[in-house]
Amino acid sequence: MLRLLKRSLEPDLGCKVETASSGEEAFSMIQEKRFDLVLSDMKMPGMGGAELLRQIRALKQGIAVIMMTAYGSIDSAVEAIRAGAYDFIAKPFDHDTLVFRLRKALERNRLISENIRLHNAFQEQATFHNIVGSSPAMLKVFETIRMVARTDMTVLVTGESGTGKELTCRAIHAQSERKAGPFVTVNCPTVPEQILESELFGYRKGAFTQASSDRQGLFQAADGGTLFLDEIGEISPTIQSKLLRVIQEKEIKPLGGTTSIPVDVRIIAATNKNLAQAIEKGEFRQDLYYRLNVLPLRLPPLRERREDIPALVSHFIHKHASTMGRDPLPVSDTLMDLLRELPLTGNIRELESLMMKGLLFAKGEMMEPEDLREVLAVSPGVVSGDRAGTCLKGLPYKEAKEQCLKAFNGGYVGALLEETGGNVAQAARRCGMERQALQQVMKRYEIDPEPYRRKD
Ligand SMILES: Nc1ncnc2c1ncn2[C@@H]1O[C@H](COP(=O)(O)OP(=O)(O)OP(=O)(O)O)[C@@H](O)[C@H]1O
Ligand SMILES: [Mg+2]
Repeated sequence: MLRLLKRSLEPDLGCKVETASSGEEAFSMIQEKRFDLVLSDMKMPGMGGAELLRQIRALKQGIAVIMMTAYGSIDSAVEAIRAGAYDFIAKPFDHDTLVFRLRKALERNRLISENIRLHNAFQEQATFHNIVGSSPAMLKVFETIRMVARTDMTVLVTGESGTGKELTCRAIHAQSERKAGPFVTVNCPTVPEQILESELFGYRKGAFTQASSDRQGLFQAADGGTLFLDEIGEISPTIQSKLLRVIQEKEIKPLGGTTSIPVDVRIIAATNKNLAQAIEKGEFRQDLYYRLNVLPLRLPPLRERREDIPALVSHFIHKHASTMGRDPLPVSDTLMDLLRELPLTGNIRELESLMMKGLLFAKGEMMEPEDLREVLAVSPGVVSGDRAGTCLKGLPYKEAKEQCLKAFNGGYVGALLEETGGNVAQAARRCGMERQALQQVMKRYEIDPEPYRRKD
């Protein structure tokens, strides 16, 4: 049978066929050479088909495996598909069916590897230190990063939450002359004020009760490299003035110490706060702001560069597929159209978590709107017209209507609250409702006015 298949398949499929008379022999051939497809019997002396399939899958080389199963043993066929076989063929089979099924498998494999090749080529072109983007806005950001990285000056990176500020700061360091030096991150708001000071500048033995020995601060840890001060808008006035001194003098004084220590550190700071406003309110020192803001870099929110969405979607699917135990799967056109128009307030971070959910829920060979139904349906942008139909298809009427109402209310009331800075009474007046009635709607659809207030 091996000889017969080889002789007939080579001309019919137009490819090279090699044969092995046991699972072990096949596997050692596969380890040595690249194959696109394996056609294997289930029952073989020694290593069986199921075990061979398992070992091939573990190699993760994208080899399509087709199992030949005895007529009537449908259970083992189902099991093989579950274990990752591409297809099965019940014996006895006629030659044309076999050729047809093998062709289909080869064609699919070719498409997948073509897809991966294109993805890689595209990604290489549109990626800068892991930052994906080819929109004019992002090309300008890349340009600024390159320019800023050549200097040793302080940089202030601003942008809404989840727009890639941290990624950008790392890129500046990686592109700079300090790239061999350390990159030390300080997440300012997570460290309590008293501790932040000693964390940054270190302390001498006896500086306070618990200081039983000298300790280096983060400035010294970053010597020769970059210190990244994340969420700088949140630091207290005391630390602000000490930072200002360090930037001016290029030396630090540890807590409880008498002598200053010179440090060679480049500071990159990031914030999603409007620092100009914070200065007006007296919350941030103007002189520190000028020192930090020598080279400003603003990251545009995703809504200003929607053309980057398809590349980001593909990037996140490839980034998370393997850790989620899946092959990277394509996104259907309908879903991509939806994603392109979605109001993503959490920006890129939100798109990333959406794609992780998609990887988790996708049932078919493509990611579809239905796979993200729960998440998308409550998103205000999805409600309009026929789109609701695409997303909610398959849900019971009552539930679908509820989802729609939730999305509508979230969008409608949300926009009002945005306008009135979270003022419910004012929002009610604007839409011709009683305040209590609006409050009831907000309670029913879990609309929280708080975030709108904070933003104002
Ligand atoms: N342009 C991009 N290309 C690829 N991944 C990105 C891009 N921008 C952001 N990300 C990813 O999105 C997530 C959020 O990015 P990052 O932490 O840099 O944002 P941030 O502005 O610091 O957010 P926050 O304000 O919440 O601190 C990260 O997982 C990051 O890898
Ligand atoms: Mg951040």
